[in-house]
Amino acid sequence: MKLFSPLELPHGSVIPNRIAKAAMEENMADNDHAPSTELLRLYRAWAEGGAGLIITGNVMVDARAMTGPSGVVLENDHHLGRFRAWAEAARAHGAQVWMQINHPGRQMPAGLGQETWAPSAIALDLGRQSNRFRTPRAMTEAHIAEVEKRFVDTALLAERAGFTGVEIHAAHGYLLSQFLSPLANQRQDRWGGSIENRARLLLDIVRHVRAVVSPGFAVAVKLNSADFQRGGFSPEDAQVVVSMLAPLGVDLVELSGGSYEAPAMMGAARDERTLAREAYFLEFARDIAKVATMPLMVTGGIRRREVAEKVIESGVAMAGIATALAIEPNLPRNWRNGKSDAPALKPITWKNKPLAATAHMAAVKYQLTRLSHCRRTAPGVSPLWALILSQLAMKRRAKRYRLWMETRFVKRGA
Ligand SMILES: Cc1cc2nc3c(=O)[nH]c(=O)nc-3n(C[C@H](O)[C@H](O)[C@H](O)COP(=O)(O)O)c2cc1C
Repeated sequence: MKLFSPLELPHGSVIPNRIAKAAMEENMADNDHAPSTELLRLYRAWAEGGAGLIITGNVMVDARAMTGPSGVVLENDHHLGRFRAWAEAARAHGAQVWMQINHPGRQMPAGLGQETWAPSAIALDLGRQSNRFRTPRAMTEAHIAEVEKRFVDTALLAERAGFTGVEIHAAHGYLLSQFLSPLANQRQDRWGGSIENRARLLLDIVRHVRAVVSPGFAVAVKLNSADFQRGGFSPEDAQVVVSMLAPLGVDLVELSGGSYEAPAMMGAARDERTLAREAYFLEFARDIAKVATMPLMVTGGIRRREVAEKVIESGVAMAGIATALAIEPNLPRNWRNGKSDAPALKPITWKNKPLAATAHMAAVKYQLTRLSHCRRTAPGVSPLWALILSQLAMKRRAKRYRLWMETRFVKRGA
């Protein structure tokens, strides 16, 4: 299979080529936590760049549970017009556009001032930075049922807004990934223990979403190939989950790995020997492909055309790219025209892996902000400088978010 050949999904729709812009949280919501003008400009750049599939940064299913400030929230149809404009901008050049939908669980910054809920009352262990996150409270049956309903409602709203699919985020240590992990999920009820129990919420959500959206609407899942933590979600667990997803009409599974505690998705894990230097999760994909009946996508470390081609030639359906497309949104178009760009940021060699991952995210977001203002990217930015700027912006945005939540509460209470 070639990088620029189309992919027909199980439900019948077609992705025009094998390059996907992977999800990147933009923190560019407007004052109502709907898509802003800057966000639309950013997606116009990616649409022109020629990726066959564009996956949005994670959109929150609950305004009280955010991965960060200025995140986009879709929990009702109040701003559906803005979401329509977003979908239109991203689809303008023929790409499929999927909204990634997410709930952070315990990975919600403490500075947002919200009650934190997770499968079990187990705090994130980030060493000296652990106080950036609150110790969560264990979810009740009613909370779990509400979360499921929220994922379903958001998926339906995404379809109404003109997105061609949704990707359910069950990776990177967020809520659904917490349920999957024996470290974060120590429940004794039907939601904990065996992998069948730990996967129950994800499977229920997928089943329910597939049942209510149109047959032509794509339903995908982002899953960790492993957590890269001793005693965590293992490659064997991932195989079982993929085999359980197979009969549910899932159109694609994107494989990634890690969490805030062990940020393997950024190329850093506690057990680094298991990671190849490029296309980090390709090895895992080979094993998972044995049980997968749906197309697979791998994301992580891909920035050279030869590597993307190797991924596709190995039988993986899609090559997911985040960082390189933040630096050069025209990468797919350039590769198609025979160019061999391989965009990269300044390497970060800090020993503290979670901090290095945060700095990497900040340096990437620096590029996104520039693109959203139609400016050229600056991959040479100092990661420390990007981190400082991002921390200051996050503080400002967190304050705005807290005020917004207070006004919502007052309005609702009135
Ligand atoms: C700034 C930034 C934001 C990200 N936000 C998300 C997100 O919202 N959802 C998600 O699944 N992954 C997110 N990721 C992870 C990427 O999708 C991807 O898995 C990771 O960056 C590895 O791919 P890369 O080496 O091509 O960057 C983010 C990564 C970066 C750098």
